[in-house]
Amino acid sequence: MLRVESLSKTFSKGSTNEKLALRDVNLSLGEGEFVTIIGGNGAGKSTLMNCISGVYEIDNGRITLDSTDITFDPEYKRSRHIGRVFQDPLRGTAHDMTIEENLSIAFAKGKSVGLQAGVSKKDINLFKERLQLLDLGLENRLKHKVGLLSGGQRQALTLLMATIIKPRLLLLDEHTAALDPTIARKVLSLTRKIVSEEKLCTLMITHNMKASLEYGTRTIMMHEGQIMMDLQGQERKDMTVDRLIEQFEKRSGAELDNDRMLLG
Ligand SMILES: Nc1ncnc2c1ncn2[C@@H]1O[C@H](COP(=O)(O)OP(=O)(O)O)[C@@H](O)[C@H]1O
Ligand SMILES: [Mg+2]
Repeated sequence: MLRVESLSKTFSKGSTNEKLALRDVNLSLGEGEFVTIIGGNGAGKSTLMNCISGVYEIDNGRITLDSTDITFDPEYKRSRHIGRVFQDPLRGTAHDMTIEENLSIAFAKGKSVGLQAGVSKKDINLFKERLQLLDLGLENRLKHKVGLLSGGQRQALTLLMATIIKPRLLLLDEHTAALDPTIARKVLSLTRKIVSEEKLCTLMITHNMKASLEYGTRTIMMHEGQIMMDLQGQERKDMTVDRLIEQFEKRSGAELDNDRMLLG
């Protein structure tokens, strides 16, 4: 369970470029809750994730994960409990290493030091089993270098790596935005499958308004560093993309700047 309280973040404080990117954000996620996040460019979506995962120090506020206050924990420490997938397919995997080696590194995160060295037959079987979920034939390519894979295959693999040891929180920052539509859909349905099977507490930023309502159990919309809409239950079930845009423009007094959000 994640709890973000009164979170504020300013970039370039004291300079002429000073930018208040998050304004007093409050957000609580229950066990297994899958929240999609939408909002225009610069709304603060990625900054929120970067503050939760410890990339940025925050001005004010408190971040709690499963009742542990992680506000001042360094990024590497938080990464043991927080799985992340970014937009760039090159970012989450080591291209010069094999699929097996990449998965082993991710898998070692959950083992104690000393047990990390070898990969057992049992581990390999688990890797194959997980790779089969992707339905991309990667289970037969364990010894292939990741650099040989397409962007979509790499992104699917990154998602497996982020979840092979069950994280307490999964953060997805437009993880399908750079993929072609067919593989993007595949990675999204895989995301849904893993999140529901493992009951993962998940935040997923998407530029796709339709996907934001289709996937997950709750949708929040951000604007100028604040959460301006929080949809769940029946209200969310009844929501359409058109009405979502209408609500956004009504509440923010701004026009949606992002054509991308309407596509796909
Ligand atoms: N590292 C940074 N340094 C300075 N300003 C930043 C940095 N990261 C983000 N910002 C600014 O903070 C605001 C929010 O950015 P971001 O969280 O990336 O938006 P989003 O992901 O919603 O598009 C933007 O105005 C952006 O320019
Ligand atoms: Mg972003």
